[in-house]
Amino acid sequence: MELLLKNIGLLATPRGSSARKGRAQGELDLIPGAMVAADGGIIRYAGPADPSISAGQVIDCGGRLVTPGLVDCHTHLVFGGWRQHEMAQKLNGVPYLDILKAGGGILSTVRATRAASDNELYSRAKKIIGEMLLFGVTTCEAKSGYGLDPETELRQLRVVRRLNEEGPAELAATFMGAHAVPEEYKADREGYIRLVCDKMLPAVAKEGLAEFCDIFCEAGVFSPEEAVRILGRAASLGFKLKAHADEINPIGGAQMAASCGCLSAEHLIAADDEGIAALADKNVIAALLPATSFYLDKPYARARKMIDSGVAVAISTDFNPGSCPGANIQFAMNLGCLRYKLTPAEVLTAVTLNGAAAINRADKIGSLEPGKQADIVVWDATDLDYIFYRFGGNLAASVIKKGRVVSPDRTAFI
Ligand code: NIG
Ligand code: FE
Repeated sequence: MELLLKNIGLLATPRGSSARKGRAQGELDLIPGAMVAADGGIIRYAGPADPSISAGQVIDCGGRLVTPGLVDCHTHLVFGGWRQHEMAQKLNGVPYLDILKAGGGILSTVRATRAASDNELYSRAKKIIGEMLLFGVTTCEAKSGYGLDPETELRQLRVVRRLNEEGPAELAATFMGAHAVPEEYKADREGYIRLVCDKMLPAVAKEGLAEFCDIFCEAGVFSPEEAVRILGRAASLGFKLKAHADEINPIGGAQMAASCGCLSAEHLIAADDEGIAALADKNVIAALLPATSFYLDKPYARARKMIDSGVAVAISTDFNPGSCPGANIQFAMNLGCLRYKLTPAEVLTAVTLNGAAAINRADKIGSLEPGKQADIVVWDATDLDYIFYRFGGNLAASVIKKGRVVSPDRTAFI
């Protein structure tokens, strides 16, 4: 073997190659005194210590907790500028959607993104991806949606492709041209929808730049009817579908996502009971973003109700310059327990296997099982509760991607 992690105090992993829902979301394999062995970047063994296994590189985990690498399944990684100038408005209580309506918010980031060079976009995103890796994120989704014109949308997605090719973090690209109506189309939203459907989506498909298509279905942004049109066109071009649904206002976004066959519906803070039932009925994964609730000072999505209704829940950061300018997925995990009232086991599944399922990769990542990629976090902890109990720091000691240690070893800090 190439790599052996020995002396694992507790190995905690969900099992399987699809999203876990209902009671199964909280069922983990918990193996004390475990070992993980990998070869060619793939896990060959994960289970109780077996003295017959040896390897070229041996990492002594010193009794620590080991989990799968974390999957951040919803981020807006590539953009220009920040939005600290909106801080005063925020503190004065100006609502998020009012800032957008006045040409700020997403539209402010659109101006900065259009003005940024490819290298500026790349360097910023590279820095954030480096930060995410240190927090234990080995795979991350990244959306466009700050270009809102054909050229800049493609530029954003090419940055995602470049970052993915470079590694070590793995990226899944999502086209989100329907993130807002840009200022130049303010008086012609139909014209913009046609631009997305007839020009942008085909261009993204032709260059193979994104696997997924997402849309901001929200009052004053794109209506459920408009979302159906755009997502329908995306599906016909081979994209898998996602939707920002019922983030702020309950407008039937969850029902829309279910009726369109979305792989995941995101946010869902305001999703109503029928919306949750529709997600369960159509096996749509709920990608929940508690750090955004925190940052926008909004209610928290009804994660408990979703799990109890049979919806598979994933948890992610939503990293972006407006509603969540922080990339610490461990903070989202804390909120998953403390605000959603999920158990540590349910949240671990939400940021590993269910996150992987939300980006269509549950057959390759998201659990520590033979045949899956050796994406692993060794934690500065000896049990699972501890990493949900501490907050505000970084408890990932070593991060391993495809069998290679990619973070500086922080175990000395214990
Ligand atoms: O997921 N809601 C839409 N999009 C992002 C925020 C984007 C921004 O404010 O720049 C979100 O919250
Ligand atoms: Fe988002």
